[in-house]
Amino acid sequence: MNCNGTEFANRDACHVLAGIRHHTYSAYTRGIAVHCFRRFLVIRHDVIVLGAGLAGMRAAIEAKRAGVDVAVISKLHPTRSHSGAAEGGINAALGNATEDSPATHAFDTVKGSDYLGDQDAIEIFAQEAPGDIYELEHMGAIFTRAADGKLAQRPFGAAGAPRTIYSADITGHVLIHVLYEQLVKHEIKVYEEFFATQVVVDGGQCAGVIAWDTQRGGLHAIQANHVILATGGVGRMYYGTTNAFACTGDGMSLAWNAGVPLKDMEFLQFHPTTLKSNGVLITEGCRGEGGYLRNKDGDRFMVADAPNAMELASRDVVSRAEWKEIADGRGVDGCVMLDLTHLGWKKLQSRLPGSRELAMDYAGVDPIEQPIPVRPGAHYMMGGVDCDVWGETIVPGLWAAGEVSCVSIHGANRLGGNSLMETVVFGRRAGQAAAERVKEQGDTGARIEASVLADEDRRIAAIVGNSEGERPGVLREELAKTMYDKAGVYRTEEALTECKEKVVELRERAKTLKIDDHGSIFNTDLTSAIELNSLLECADCLVTSALARKESRGAHSRLDHTERDDDHWLKHTLNWNDNGEVRLDYKPVTITKHQPLARSY
Ligand code: FUM
Repeated sequence: MNCNGTEFANRDACHVLAGIRHHTYSAYTRGIAVHCFRRFLVIRHDVIVLGAGLAGMRAAIEAKRAGVDVAVISKLHPTRSHSGAAEGGINAALGNATEDSPATHAFDTVKGSDYLGDQDAIEIFAQEAPGDIYELEHMGAIFTRAADGKLAQRPFGAAGAPRTIYSADITGHVLIHVLYEQLVKHEIKVYEEFFATQVVVDGGQCAGVIAWDTQRGGLHAIQANHVILATGGVGRMYYGTTNAFACTGDGMSLAWNAGVPLKDMEFLQFHPTTLKSNGVLITEGCRGEGGYLRNKDGDRFMVADAPNAMELASRDVVSRAEWKEIADGRGVDGCVMLDLTHLGWKKLQSRLPGSRELAMDYAGVDPIEQPIPVRPGAHYMMGGVDCDVWGETIVPGLWAAGEVSCVSIHGANRLGGNSLMETVVFGRRAGQAAAERVKEQGDTGARIEASVLADEDRRIAAIVGNSEGERPGVLREELAKTMYDKAGVYRTEEALTECKEKVVELRERAKTLKIDDHGSIFNTDLTSAIELNSLLECADCLVTSALARKESRGAHSRLDHTERDDDHWLKHTLNWNDNGEVRLDYKPVTITKHQPLARSY
C-alpha cells in the first residue's frame, strides 16, 4: 500500500493526508485490476477546479480562502495555460486616462455584443472589475504606470474611453505568474498534467471527474460534489488561430456530455491582426497605441467601414473590412499591413516590445521600419457552457468560468480586454459560490461508482489499443481547414451546409482512430484522439447553430442574410446533446437598460 498520495494498490480505509482525503474502495481494485493494466487513485475534495489558467486559479484561490478543500486539475502546468498568451490588457473603468464609469463600460460591452449579451451579467462584470484590478495589483501584478503614477490605461476597440490596463504587451504572462504565486501561497493542490476524460453525474448531481495521469499513466476518480470548469476555449478547431495547441474545447465537451447545453456556439471571434505564418497574435494594443491598417496602396481602408472608430472599431467590423480588402485584391499576399512605423522606437520598445519581437521572429520585419503583414485569425469563442452569473450550470455542482463558459457577457462579439477581466471576475465568483454551497449542503452523496470508472477505463483502453483507421492529426487538420474555409469571417448557407456535412463525416471517421503509441506514459496520441472528439463536438454545435441563425450579428456574418434581425433572432442559441446529435433550442436575452440600437461605427 502506498499512502503518499500518488497511487495505491489495495486498501479500504480512508486517510486524510496533507489536506487531501484519499478514499479507496476495495471494489474498484478488485473489480478493475483483473481486466486492466492500470492502477487507480481515488481521491476526494470538496471542490475541484478543472483548468489552471486565470479563471481556474482565481476560482481555486477564492474557494480556498472560503475555507473549503479545493484542488486544481490541469492538463498543463498552470503557467503554461493559454491565458499567459494574452497580450494587450484587461478592462476596468478606473477612469485614470479620461473620465469613465462602470455604466459606460457596461454600455460599450452591450453594444459590442450586438445586443446579445445579458445585461444583468454585464452590469455585474463592469461594476466588480475595478475592485478585482486593485486586488491583482495588491497581489503583485506589475501594471504599466502613467506619468502621474496611476495605472496606465490604453484605448482598445469599441471602447468609449481608454480603459485597458496593461503590462506592456505581456499582460497575460504577468497575471498568470501572479495568480500562480497565490496558488502556491495558499498551498492549493494541483494535479498537473492530468487530463480529464469525464465529468461524472450521479443521481442528477455532480460527483467529480475521471482523469488520466499523463505523466505516469493511470485513470483516476477524483471525487468532488463541486466541479468548476475553467478549461478555456476551442480555437484549435480552426486553421490559423491565435490559440495554443491545448485549446481544444475539452471543458465544453465534458459539460455537453454531462447534460449541460452549450450556448451561442456560432459566435467565434476572428482577431484582425494575426501573423500569416503561424496565427500568432499581434495585439490590438498596437492599434490602441496609434497603429494604422493599410492596404497594398497604402490607404487606411477602415475609413470606408468605420469612419469614426477607424482601426479601433470592434473586432468583427475590422476583420470583415480586412477580409473584403484581401478578397477584392487590395491585400498583400493574403494579408493587410499593420503600420507602426510612425510610432517611433521609444513607444514601440516601452509599450509593445513583445509585438516587435514576434514580428521580427515570425514575419521577418522590424515594425520600427516596416509594416507587419497581418490577417484575421480565429481567436475567441464567445459561446460556451451555459451558466448563470455565479457560473452555475443546470447540473447541480457543475460550474463554469472563463472562456469555456457563456454567462453571457460577450454576446455576439467580445470587446478586446474583456476576456482577461471576465476570467478574474467570474472565476472569483464561481469559487466563492461553490465554496458557499459546500458549506450549506455538506456532502450531497453523489459518488463516482466503481462501475463508471471501469467503463471509462474500458473506453480509454479501447482507444489506446486501436491500430486501425486514421491518425487523429489528419482529421484535426481537415477539420481546421474546413472550419476556416466554410465557417469563417463570412458565412453562407451553401458553405455552412458543406461544413456541416464535413463535420458529420469527420465525426464518423473519428470513431476509429489509429494510435501508434500503445503505452501509458505521456501518450500524446491518446490525448490528441480525445481532444479531436471534443473539437468535433464543438464544431458540430458551431456549424449547426450558424446554419440555423439566418441573420448577421456580431461575429456571425452571413452574406445571404446581411441584416441583424431582432424580431426573430434576439435570442440565445442552446445546443443540447441528443444522443450525440446536436439539438437546437433558444432562450431569451436579458435586457435591463439598453434596447437594441442600429449599428454605427
Ligand atoms: O489583442 C489583444 O491583445 C487581445 C486581447 C483580447 O483578446 O482581449
